[in-house]
Amino acid sequence: MKQMQAERLQKILSQAGITSRRKAEKLILQGRVSVNGKVVSELGAKAVLGKDDICVNGKAIKAETEKVVVALFKPKSFVTTLHDPQGRPTVADLVKSISVRVYPVGRLDYDADGLLLMTNDGELAHRLQHPRYKVPKTYLVKVRGHPLEEGLAQLQQGVSLEDGITAPAELHILEDDKKATWLTITLREGRNHQVKRMCAAVGCPVLKLRRTKIGPIDLGNLQPGRSRRLKASEVRALRKAVGLDG
Ligand code: URA
Repeated sequence: MKQMQAERLQKILSQAGITSRRKAEKLILQGRVSVNGKVVSELGAKAVLGKDDICVNGKAIKAETEKVVVALFKPKSFVTTLHDPQGRPTVADLVKSISVRVYPVGRLDYDADGLLLMTNDGELAHRLQHPRYKVPKTYLVKVRGHPLEEGLAQLQQGVSLEDGITAPAELHILEDDKKATWLTITLREGRNHQVKRMCAAVGCPVLKLRRTKIGPIDLGNLQPGRSRRLKASEVRALRKAVGLDG
């Protein structure tokens, strides 16, 4: 975590986007700035943003926390919450080296593995999960048996589940052996256990499930249990995919 440093008030106000440094000096001289409840009217005063309660015209200003997006290869047998009442391992155990607190974007089943994004950017997380933004999520799936033509068509066009018909999905059969079929499926909605329920509905229960891609972000050669911070260009692509930043 970044060391919290005392800074001159006018610098804090300008860095928090309140106003320019020169105008911030005026605000201070006019007695319109307070720190921990006391009006500060001299220009040399310092404070720590995020620790001290700094107000302008009585309104608190907030520390702008650095926005971070992390890609994690969630292994099987980890839950995608920060705390598990049953004491199972959680994804929080895997991102301890990240200096800010990041939250899982949606879920990935306990017995599934693959790409999980984690972030402290609430708006981005919300949009990545909301069906309105139709962010494609791709899964590598092993199912028992061999889906019939009709089943494949249903998976692609819409399967009737208890919570309604699924949206069109992209499907590719990779290989099949005697007992099982490997396929990829790309969904643009994210209901609970959706892939498992869709495959079960066409008579081919899921044996293995791995998420390989979310929007423009690929699992790549990330190893199970490892995480990495997304590069600025990847964050830009992700934000663009959900209609943020043009
Ligand atoms: N579909 C599922 O069935 N499980 C997941 O974790 C994600 C998609």
